[in-house]
Amino acid sequence: MDVLTALNPGAEYSTKQLQFILGAWIVGSAFERKDKISLQNGDVSEDDYTKQSIYALLYSLYSSMGETRSETGATYQLTFNTWGYTWPESWGPCPNSPSDPQRFGKNAYTGLYQFDAVKEYVKARDGRVSVVELGCGTGAGAHHVCSHVLPKCTYEAVDMQQAAIATCRRKFVPELGGRLVATRADATRVAIPDATADFLAVCETHVTEMAGRTTPEDRRFFENARRILKPGGYLVWGNAIPDSTWQPCFDLLKDIGMKQIEVRDVTAEAVKARDEDAGRVDAYVEQCLDRFYGFRIPVLGEKRRAEARLALYNFYRNPGTNLYENMRNGTDSYKVVLFQKPA
Ligand SMILES: C[S@@+](CC[C@H](N)C(=O)[O-])C[C@H]1O[C@@H](n2cnc3c(N)ncnc32)[C@H](O)[C@@H]1O
Repeated sequence: MDVLTALNPGAEYSTKQLQFILGAWIVGSAFERKDKISLQNGDVSEDDYTKQSIYALLYSLYSSMGETRSETGATYQLTFNTWGYTWPESWGPCPNSPSDPQRFGKNAYTGLYQFDAVKEYVKARDGRVSVVELGCGTGAGAHHVCSHVLPKCTYEAVDMQQAAIATCRRKFVPELGGRLVATRADATRVAIPDATADFLAVCETHVTEMAGRTTPEDRRFFENARRILKPGGYLVWGNAIPDSTWQPCFDLLKDIGMKQIEVRDVTAEAVKARDEDAGRVDAYVEQCLDRFYGFRIPVLGEKRRAEARLALYNFYRNPGTNLYENMRNGTDSYKVVLFQKPA
């Protein structure tokens, strides 16, 4: 069993199933011809994983872990699958609590709506705006926006992963009195009617990952985003991606008729967030590894434990990993961008 490629985005795996899946992955290491996870920096080559499988594992894992403890002892359920950033000083006081273990993810979602043009648009409609998010994960950000950022909005949150959408429906949808809808779909094909959203939100969605170019999936993703937006509506998008990919994305967006309004670089704040978040990430990863019995198997279990720890650290861009270094040395940059569909 190769957990990097074999899991199903249409499934939500129970703890019992995860024990079995991880057990099979651990035993399978005896027959593996090459190590797919670097033991230096946790890197996994693009050819050795699929996002369908990785996120199927992660969202089932988050749900199975339930409440965990941060490094300071605060209890929380991990739902923000977001690197995020520290709140830039020039944006004014940080709206999210400094002791919240998921504050960087909350900052990233709040930050999508910090542009003056966005604030004016929302004010002109007395806050009654509609949002569609593509790649919402568990809907933690959708819940944060509906509760604290746009308290009068309606919101449709879309992700390809069943385990994430199931978490959203259990944990966040019931609290919001019909304002939040969670939809499982491929964001490049989701059947939302044309010209219905005031805002199309994209927060660290796993697209636009290829250095220096866009892919056919990226084009379909943005064409669908444009189609869903009302004329005059805004694409609000934040992510850390290869620095060389931003301009090809901007060119693609202009090519499909979107207008660039503003681009903000928050890479320094994103690195700072990873530094400040390292203790919480360490604590979370150890609790995950302790939960699954296979990692206690001598030799094979210990080897996979080391690989899983490093792969998770890299995924979270923890200091010392490949993805962290990429952000520190400028290979990757975190930007928050605003595009408008002309009226
Ligand atoms: C790093 S996670 C971020 C999730 C969420 N926005 C958050 O910040 O917690 C990337 C997400 O993009 C989703 N994703 C990537 N490609 C997608 C697609 N074509 N359709 C729907 N979801 C997609 C993944 O399933 C995953 O949930």
